[in-house]
Amino acid sequence: MTERTLVLIKPDGVQRGLTGEILRRIEAKGYAIAELKKLQASTEQLAAHYAEHEGKPFYQPLVDFMLSGPVVAAILEGDRVIEGFRSLAGTTDPTTAAPGTIRGDLGRDWGEKVQKNLVHGSDSVESAEREISIWF
Ligand code: CMP
Repeated sequence: MTERTLVLIKPDGVQRGLTGEILRRIEAKGYAIAELKKLQASTEQLAAHYAEHEGKPFYQPLVDFMLSGPVVAAILEGDRVIEGFRSLAGTTDPTTAAPGTIRGDLGRDWGEKVQKNLVHGSDSVESAEREISIWF
């Protein structure tokens, strides 16, 4: 079934010059990039995007990190793209994410409270539509 998902290339990915490499992997997998833009996130966007994590110990470091530089936001389209992009991205912790994935190949820990894990991808049809409305 054709779906849409929201992808963010986080400030670590943009700052490290990995935007092209990440978009290359998405296109090589066969997903369409329906919308794409680079922007500085606002605190309001991040509060909405990360509402489910409010109160967790990593919440404020995560918001501060996401404000630390520009992000790239994209809407991807394709059959089962929500699950497919999360598979491309790899698991949350970049140190142990499987080689072959974006996080596993390009990410690692940097000794900080926040997990700088390069990308975000929506986890369900409902979150995708909610997140797309935050960023586009
Ligand atoms: P993301 O997919 O954007 O969703 C929430 C983010 O919080 C996650 O990627 C990580 O960047 C971060 N995160 C999740 N769990 C932890 C944790 N235990 N410690 C630090 N950061 C975390």
